[in-house]
Amino acid sequence: MAEPTRTAKLTIDDKVIDLPIYSGTIGPDVLDIRKLYAQSDMFTYDPGFTSTAACDSAITYIDGDKGELLHRGYPIDQLAEKSHYLEVCYLLLYGELPTLVQMKDFEGRITRHTMVHEQMHNFFRGFRRDAHPMATMVGVVGALSAFYHDSTDINDPWQREVAAIRLIAKLPTIAAMAYKYSIGQPFVYPKNSLDYAANFLHMCFAVPCEDYVVNPILAKAMDRIMTLHADHEQNASTSTVRLAGSSGANPFACIAAGIACLWGPAHGGANQACLEMLREIGTVDRIPEYIRKAKDKDDPFRLMGFGHRVYKNFDPRAKVMKESADEVLGLLGVENNPTLQVAKELERIALEDDYFVSKKLYPNVDFYSGIILDAMGFPTSMFTPIFALSRTVGWISQWKEMIGDPTQKIGRPRQLYTGSAFRNYVDTHHR
Ligand code: CMC
Repeated sequence: MAEPTRTAKLTIDDKVIDLPIYSGTIGPDVLDIRKLYAQSDMFTYDPGFTSTAACDSAITYIDGDKGELLHRGYPIDQLAEKSHYLEVCYLLLYGELPTLVQMKDFEGRITRHTMVHEQMHNFFRGFRRDAHPMATMVGVVGALSAFYHDSTDINDPWQREVAAIRLIAKLPTIAAMAYKYSIGQPFVYPKNSLDYAANFLHMCFAVPCEDYVVNPILAKAMDRIMTLHADHEQNASTSTVRLAGSSGANPFACIAAGIACLWGPAHGGANQACLEMLREIGTVDRIPEYIRKAKDKDDPFRLMGFGHRVYKNFDPRAKVMKESADEVLGLLGVENNPTLQVAKELERIALEDDYFVSKKLYPNVDFYSGIILDAMGFPTSMFTPIFALSRTVGWISQWKEMIGDPTQKIGRPRQLYTGSAFRNYVDTHHR
């Protein structure tokens, strides 16, 4: 960390405490409160971490007011338009865009790790057929540490690198296997002649009894969805991965923790919840009823795919996703898809409504992604697994950055205790 740029003074009763202030390259400065407890016997209090920077990072930057998302400085709209998923993976992992030689080498390394240990097939077979693919993925990804012992030593940079490559390469295979298992079809092995996104579609939709040719339009759309989900700064699942990793847990266990966190409907589970909501609304005339429900304080219903902790202008990923939805559905000849019509009208009405405007609630990345995935033929239960496989590179890049930092220590938040003060144990007869 650089030297402090200035110092803030905090007065508690009659004691003045100096708090160093650090500046990043861009974004808000941070107040360094690490010595606060020692100096004041007080903790800071920030449930939900709305004002807390938990680490320094050089990977991803978000300006929520401008609606800007940068990976290693490059804006997401440029990456979505001009780059492709594996190149973005390289950028996130290593910090720079690759040369042609570096890209070829990286693609080769990923491609050679796409298969999973054959014994893992038996592991899958232990799950119920009707298990949600996310449930299967949490278990199987955690189990990778039981199959790949030679890349679990976090103190060995070579093992960390191999674990990163294995995770990026194997996650699509695992997600596709979870899907195939849930529909009772045989697993489809990865095909190394296909690119990353096309290979995933092949593993999901091919069957052994006939040839399956991947539609290049769908492969491109899949690649873009993956690119848009690749990383997103210190969101809940990334922070989960960092916290799990801060104890020294192996990378497979940490990514399994990230997948578990992502599953929630306030986070990656929102894409499934959003499409289910759009289908439930069904027709444009029912939108006002759902807007009313979303605004009603006594109703727990929220417009899924709307709102974001950081973006208070628009989510730049949602913009690209909306364009992509139009493009893909147009190319597939299903532009009159009723769900897309409901989504567009819902967006239009919500963006004119004072409740959503005043609270700065805009469509997020999950609002349109489900419509594209649905048009591609994925069931809603696969939406969050696709988010998970795409985000794996972000998680592992953030994990590698943390483990490589010599000042890293175990994450251990404190609390404002509101329970009973000391009391003596009372035995059963006297309660
Ligand atoms: N529908 C209706 N009202 C909302 C919504 C919504 N989707 N989102 C926030 N609000 C209201 C909320 O009730 C609160 O109102 P008040 O100030 O009167 O209490 C205000 O807006 C601020 O909301 P918050 O819950 O304090 O904000 P947060 O930053 O803690 O939550 C969020 C962010 C994304 C969890 C939330 O907006 C939400 O639940 N959205 C729906 C789920 C969703 O789409 N999640 C995907 C997020 S993007 C992808 C990802 O991260 O995985």
